[in-house]
Amino acid sequence: MASFSFTSIAKCVNAIHVLVLTLLVLNLSSLFKDLSLAAVAAKHSSSNSVYASHHHGHHRSRYHSNHPDPDSNERLNQAFLALQAWKRVIYSDPHNFTFNWEGPSVCNYKGVFCAPAPDDSKTQVVAGIDLNKGDIAGFLPEELGLLSDLALIHLNSNRFCGILPHSLANLTGLYELDLSNNRFVGPFPTVVFSLSSLKYLDLRYNEFEGPLPPQLFSNKLDAIFVNNNRFTSINIPASSLSFSASVVVFANNNFGGCLPPSIVNFADTLEELLMINTNLSGCLPEQVGFLYKLRVLDVSSNKLVGPIPYSLAGLAHLEQLNLGHNMLSGIVPAGVCSLPNLANFTISYNYFCEEEGIICQNLTTSKGGNIAFDDRRNCLPDRPYQRTQKECSAALEHPVDCF
Ligand SMILES: *[C@@H]1O[C@H](CO)[C@@H](O)[C@H](O)[C@H]1NC(C)=O
Ligand SMILES: *[C@@H]1O[C@H](CO)[C@@H](O)[C@H](O)[C@H]1NC(C)=O
Ligand SMILES: *[C@@H]1O[C@H](CO)[C@@H](O)[C@H](O)[C@H]1NC(C)=O
Ligand SMILES: *[C@@H]1O[C@H](CO)[C@@H](O)[C@H](O)[C@H]1NC(C)=O
Ligand SMILES: *[C@@H]1O[C@H](CO)[C@@H](O)[C@H](O)[C@H]1NC(C)=O
Repeated sequence: MASFSFTSIAKCVNAIHVLVLTLLVLNLSSLFKDLSLAAVAAKHSSSNSVYASHHHGHHRSRYHSNHPDPDSNERLNQAFLALQAWKRVIYSDPHNFTFNWEGPSVCNYKGVFCAPAPDDSKTQVVAGIDLNKGDIAGFLPEELGLLSDLALIHLNSNRFCGILPHSLANLTGLYELDLSNNRFVGPFPTVVFSLSSLKYLDLRYNEFEGPLPPQLFSNKLDAIFVNNNRFTSINIPASSLSFSASVVVFANNNFGGCLPPSIVNFADTLEELLMINTNLSGCLPEQVGFLYKLRVLDVSSNKLVGPIPYSLAGLAHLEQLNLGHNMLSGIVPAGVCSLPNLANFTISYNYFCEEEGIICQNLTTSKGGNIAFDDRRNCLPDRPYQRTQKECSAALEHPVDCF
């Protein structure tokens, strides 16, 4: 049970991730330009008035006299201060990632990537930080706010702990923030809502807790990964006009309660919804069937009851449908069995008592084409590997009324 949940997350998550990382490693500067030019340029044009007037002259004289590096500039000097402050709060670096974080040539630091500034192509700035799989222990200091030219932060698989500094709000060109697989704690880091260019937010595998705030769903993010934390509820606003994410992975949190009908507010963009093992109960709302762009729907390993809503028959793009390991019952609708793009349909470990018509029955005989279908451990007469009569009659004694 645990193993299949994990692989199914890993599959859809890694696709994006691998792509992003490859781009970063192969050609960070072009990625930076493509993805973040507009955002960073916008930031600089709007914030120049705030910073330029009193910071430039001051820092230039102060740091240039200390470090007469011909390739340096004021923005790299700020980055130098930030990275040195960061190095001071790194307590373990078993792979020597930060070993060469010495001196003012920050563009040579391992894991630090420079690119021409979007607003000034003659000036190099720190555009990306990639310490993925560093196994580094430490925390994120306030000085990270000085890295105001960053477009990418990838800290996947380290031991960074504590909370995110408020100064991160200064990173107005930040496009991707990957903090996955660390030891961050505390409530949802609302500082990310200040990052007006942020598109990709990955907080997976940390120890964030408490509710997911409604602002998360009225935001310009493209992909949201919050799985494997300790979040306790989802607050999807009654109207999320600006919701724009195509992938949302909520899996392995402890939300409890029902899937809210307001999920329908995601309809215009959402393609993948993963809510595996989130302690969902109650009936599936018919609004799930209104998410007409869905390709992947996985609500497995919860405590859902009642029937499959007929509205699911409208999900014409659906490829993967996993309803396994719940307490669903009733008839599996023919309209769902005949979804045109369905490639993998799992209903195992529920209490379904009928698969409707020849279309569903064809799925069970491999006449349904190349559809992977798993209906084990239900209450289906004439099908192999079903629950016992005793289990089934106990469950069917308590019919569920969803409406
Ligand atoms: C890291 O550097 C230390 C000291 O220079 C050295 O003893 C150790 O072997 C290095 N570890 C790795 C993984 O390179
Ligand atoms: C924000 O960035 C600017 C440079 O763009 C810097 O001067 C300022 O100190 C930073 N603020 C914080 C809170 O780090
Ligand atoms: C699951 O959610 C319910 C609320 O719907 C809550 O009472 C229960 O304690 C949760 N289960 C676990 C294992 O935390
Ligand atoms: C179908 O989906 C289930 C559940 O996500 C998974 O365990 C299984 O490997 C998938 N089968 C195929 C053939 O992709
Ligand atoms: C079921 O499968 C048979 C044999 O492949 C096929 O002739 C028939 O059209 C299928 N029926 C439906 C409703 O898909």
